[in-house]
Amino acid sequence: RTVAVVLAGGSGQRIGLATPKQLLKIAGKSILEHTLDIFERSEAVDEVIVMMNPGFVTDAETIVQKAGLSKVSRVLPGGTSRNATTQLALDALAHYSSANTNVLFHDAVRPMLSQRVIDDCVAALETYEAVDVAIPSSDTIIEVNDDDIITDVPTRSRLRRGQTPQAFRMSTIREAYAKAWNDPGFEATDDCTVVLRYAPDVPIHVVAGEEQNMKVTQPVDIFIADKLFQLATSATPRYSEQDYTRELAGKTVVVFGGS
Ligand code: CTP
Repeated sequence: RTVAVVLAGGSGQRIGLATPKQLLKIAGKSILEHTLDIFERSEAVDEVIVMMNPGFVTDAETIVQKAGLSKVSRVLPGGTSRNATTQLALDALAHYSSANTNVLFHDAVRPMLSQRVIDDCVAALETYEAVDVAIPSSDTIIEVNDDDIITDVPTRSRLRRGQTPQAFRMSTIREAYAKAWNDPGFEATDDCTVVLRYAPDVPIHVVAGEEQNMKVTQPVDIFIADKLFQLATSATPRYSEQDYTRELAGKTVVVFGGS
């Protein structure tokens, strides 16, 4: 059995609105609904649970009901950190056998996840106990100290930008979290880090992510996501990939979204 956990417990402080970003609408639908639709359509996923910002659980329930999302079994309040929310989801799934269950954790605010990435994650769990999704970095990543002085510039070709879903065999992620909470210094921003630190013998396989699987994080991301949805859903997209390639080969400058 494969369960997808949609992590929507955050409040979107970097966007800075009273409404959490997962409830903002892009292309006519809330970001949360776009994300839930993707899992509803997935043949690899049997069940979905939503971990919602505690002040907005009713809003999420209404979205699930109105959209008729039949795979969503529960909408529950999330915790005070992303990792606390993951733990609450694991507790809510305690009735599933650890041996035969896969669990995928996905950020609610990545509404352009493709079926290909979900399928690759679930397929990889046949071989690996833990799976991450990542893309190469176009930017050079630098490491700085507290005084904003560069301390290292790691080789770019070995760096990846982590996305979600992160997928696990239930027993692996459960055991890693149990150890993590026993460590007073435990700190992480995702779930693979928990496996890396507290189940160090488990290799974490990396599946290729996609640029459009972006995380809506900063105000500008709302605009970008909205544009991407317009392009994806428009009956006659302004530019196809072939157009780009042809124009670039002819050295025509293509202005994204321009007329
Ligand atoms: N998340 C969660 N529970 C929390 C915090 C975050 O489930 N206590 C979820 C968010 O809802 C989001 C995902 O984790 O879907 C990625 O986190 P992030 O982009 O950092 O979201 P926020 O915490 O909402 O954003 P910010 O850090 O700007 O407040």
